[in-house]
Amino acid sequence: MNEIVEKINKLKREKNAVILAHCYQNAEVDEAADFVGDSLYLSQMAAKTDADIILFAGVYFMAQTAKILCPDKKVLLPRLESGCRMADMITLNQLREFKQNHPNIPTVCYINSTAEVKSECDICCTSSNAIKIVDSLKADEILFLPDTYLGKWVEKKLGSVKVTTYPGFCPTHLQIRPDDVMEMRKKYPDALVLAHPECHQSVSAIADFVGSTTAIMKYAIESDQKQFIIATEKGVVDRLQRDYPEKEFILIKEDIVCPNMKWHTLTDIYNALEKEEHEIDVDKEIASKALKCIDRMLEVSSAGVK
Ligand code: 13P
Ligand code: SF4
Repeated sequence: MNEIVEKINKLKREKNAVILAHCYQNAEVDEAADFVGDSLYLSQMAAKTDADIILFAGVYFMAQTAKILCPDKKVLLPRLESGCRMADMITLNQLREFKQNHPNIPTVCYINSTAEVKSECDICCTSSNAIKIVDSLKADEILFLPDTYLGKWVEKKLGSVKVTTYPGFCPTHLQIRPDDVMEMRKKYPDALVLAHPECHQSVSAIADFVGSTTAIMKYAIESDQKQFIIATEKGVVDRLQRDYPEKEFILIKEDIVCPNMKWHTLTDIYNALEKEEHEIDVDKEIASKALKCIDRMLEVSSAGVK
């Protein structure tokens, strides 16, 4: 085993720490992680761990969510630079203005949002459970933020709810254009195109399958097909190719990378655990309101871990 991984494992045992890693991390991070997955899975794991320290190899809002779910635990983020550019597109004031412009409509926020924003939304969702969460509200209209493309995808899938979206987006997924899909289909005519719903609707419309990180991975693993064009972050391709070498996974386009997800190295993780930094804290009042929004999602969500 890699020396740094051994040192991390020793610290984990000494400090009763657990490492949660998102699938978009550098693949080397998995060697030290206890749980690797998408944002729903990781928040479920955070909610039920009995570790004293949770180190989050992910972006800021994920560590913040873990802290809200586990206020008595120490939550660490190795590199503070790792914010989600989409989550940062809506502030509390912008949310208030959005709600004022569309009064008395249930508000659903993507988990990719700040604690302050969650504290004034009715329920949150991840890309894995967005359809189920919106459907559970039994509303004719909902407000969805910050990701306009995920919101519009949910509206199309459900067909029965008007989804009014905030104009936020993921700069990484928005780099993928329909021309990229067409070009790759010409190059790999037998391959299936699997896309994340954060992609522009013109991409989702021509993909063979649209789903969350976990849904894309599950679809590719279970399919009889051998070749896949993946229209989401590179970490998904790296993990699928590593774990299923008998199949071929092709990233739709070079550099579909979330730069903020890639900050944490194994050395950063070791240093963070050793020094117990950077500790994530959330204002108690905000946290208790945001917890309602997250808890409601976990209750409705199909996994039903909570
Ligand atoms: P998942 O909910 O699929 O983990 O996605 C999180 C994310 O940030 C996608 O860009
Ligand atoms: Fe945020 Fe996009 Fe990065 Fe996901 S890929 S963490 S939505 S910036």
